[in-house]
Amino acid sequence: MGEKRILCVGLVCLDIINVVERYPEEDTDTRCLSQRWQRGGNASNSCTVLSLLGAPCAFMGSLAPGHIADFTLDSLTSYGIDVRHVVSHPGSSFPASIVISNITNGSRTILHMNRNLPDVTANDFQNVDLTQYKWMHWEGRNADEQIKMIHKVNDYNNICPTDQRITISVEIEKEREDLYQLFQYGELVFVSKDVARHLGYNSSAEAVAGLYPRVKSGAYLVCAWAEQGADALGPDGRVLHSPSFPPETIVDTLGAGDTFNASVIYALSKGQTMEEAITFGCRIAGKKCGVQGYDGIVSGDLHSFCHE
Ligand code: ADP
Ligand code: FRU
Repeated sequence: MGEKRILCVGLVCLDIINVVERYPEEDTDTRCLSQRWQRGGNASNSCTVLSLLGAPCAFMGSLAPGHIADFTLDSLTSYGIDVRHVVSHPGSSFPASIVISNITNGSRTILHMNRNLPDVTANDFQNVDLTQYKWMHWEGRNADEQIKMIHKVNDYNNICPTDQRITISVEIEKEREDLYQLFQYGELVFVSKDVARHLGYNSSAEAVAGLYPRVKSGAYLVCAWAEQGADALGPDGRVLHSPSFPPETIVDTLGAGDTFNASVIYALSKGQTMEEAITFGCRIAGKKCGVQGYDGIVSGDLHSFCHE
């Protein structure tokens, strides 16, 4: 068998990206610098980055069949991302985001719509052959179902040899009470600055310290905070910090967090320390902010950095 894969479970959607010189005034008629379709969704974006980093990976999520599904599946497979666990829902609408991407400061304003596409369930997860995976990452969405999936992986981990165990990570990105139960699951928990702010924290260091009691014993909690970089806290009680690595010009921050998460997972899966992993995450996420989309974010120096 080849190298085991990393599975990311969560959203795939269509991003219709409108690149503008400056953010428009309400009720005006603006000419964009460019417009493009891009596959989006946190788990799907993280798969793109894992694949660019050279990690065999798979995406698990739902789609509604049709032209947009064909576009996203073509994109996933063109990056070598395994799509065998994509679940099709005829009769549903494909989720889409209209993104206003301001080239002058890199800000991304997202208008997202998901009409009726159901997320994958624990039942769908029964079809996953756990022996094929070394890491599984859940983008927090339908938390109750996701917890059932995680229990299944925990049961598997309890009976398999230590070196075959699957590492579990979760992301809590949206300010939704039902997602906060996910803090207790996973050896690695990513919490977004939006959630951290919502819960009353003003920096990533404050957030990891304040939220650490919510994670399970022995876990790491990681929080990224845009130009301020990221912090992590683990069982030894030491808050680890990485600065950000801004590119010369910031042009597009869409998916910077997804890029950070994927890069941290990648570095840890290659045996790096948490301090190295968040630094690597910030370096790759910084590269991403300097380009439109994701291609070209893994240049020679960063690739050799992670293969040293
Ligand atoms: P999200 O896309 O979820 O809002 P963040 O804004 O927290 O994610 O960014 C994730 C990571 O991306 C940060 O830790 C940082 O390394 C990098 N990043 C994001 N925005 C910038 C920026 N303006 N300058 C430099 N790095 C950035
Ligand atoms: C970026 C992203 C976009 C998508 C939106 C959904 O993190 O995944 O690709 O449109 O967030 O919330």
